[in-house]
Amino acid sequence: MAGKHALITGSSRGIGRGIALKLAEAGATIGVHYYQNEAAAKETLRMVKERGADGAIFQADVTKPEQIERLFKEVRSRFPSLDIFVSNARPEAVHFFYPPADITLEQIDAAFDSQVKAVVIGAREAGKIMSEGGRIIAITYGAGSRTGGLLPWVAMGSAKAAMESLVRYFAVAFAKRGITVNAISPGWTEDSVLNSLPDPVQKLIRDWHQQGWTPMRRLGTPADVGDVVSLFCSPQANWITGQVIFADGGASLMNPEVPPKIQLG
Ligand SMILES: NC(=O)c1ccc[n+]([C@@H]2O[C@H](COP(=O)([O-])OP(=O)(O)OC[C@H]3O[C@@H](n4cnc5c(N)ncnc54)[C@H](OP(=O)(O)O)[C@@H]3O)[C@@H](O)[C@H]2O)c1
Repeated sequence: MAGKHALITGSSRGIGRGIALKLAEAGATIGVHYYQNEAAAKETLRMVKERGADGAIFQADVTKPEQIERLFKEVRSRFPSLDIFVSNARPEAVHFFYPPADITLEQIDAAFDSQVKAVVIGAREAGKIMSEGGRIIAITYGAGSRTGGLLPWVAMGSAKAAMESLVRYFAVAFAKRGITVNAISPGWTEDSVLNSLPDPVQKLIRDWHQQGWTPMRRLGTPADVGDVVSLFCSPQANWITGQVIFADGGASLMNPEVPPKIQLG
């Protein structure tokens, strides 16, 4: 990926950082984006450089459409091209995590502005400056967009469903230019928002997956997700577009009607 330029929103921490580091290892120049945590963004950039790649830091609030437009203006002024755009950032849980009967319109807006409008603006702006071989990747959560059991996920889950739909429309719109648009759906991932949950909740989630809900019997890591994004950015992935790819150690294959103990034999 030498000579290629990538922008990854929310790459100061968590999964976004994992993606930034894998693309850096492949030689891409990295646009590290953050919201409030400049020190974390600087640390990601230091790690990018440690891997022999170059990069620059960008700041924007992805819940504000005008700030995403400004972000792309800055990218255009600092990068000669943009080859990879990964829409990964998501506001802190407090801005969207509330059950259906009590969710506020502000929380719905935070989810839809950051997951739907951000992809519309990001894909549109990225599309203007990408050439053949360009890659647009949205980070979704397929379990959230397809189920209804985790009640406080109602805003984010429905926004992710819209994000996955957008991916298909942009995929068709950009196909003739050789630009692919896909969504990657990680399962529960270490070193991410998970680590901000209360310890007992983290333990319940880890145990559940280690006991078999994830057939590979561990949680994912930001590096796992970074590897998958890197794979989709390779020329060998030219023919895959408009898809939602589950990168979750097999968790999405499990049947929710049967306890893992019985399914796994
Ligand atoms: N974690 C999981 O298990 C999991 C599973 C499936 C899918 N996902 C998806 O993966 C993506 C990343 O999740 P994560 O858990 O890695 O997140 P995270 O560790 O909580 O990191 C959030 C990132 O987004 C940035 N951010 C927060 N609020 C923002 C705002 N208003 N505007 C712009 N950027 C903002 C943060 O920047 P600052 O550092 O400046 O605050 C940080 O870089 C999300 O789309 C999520 O839905 C996560």
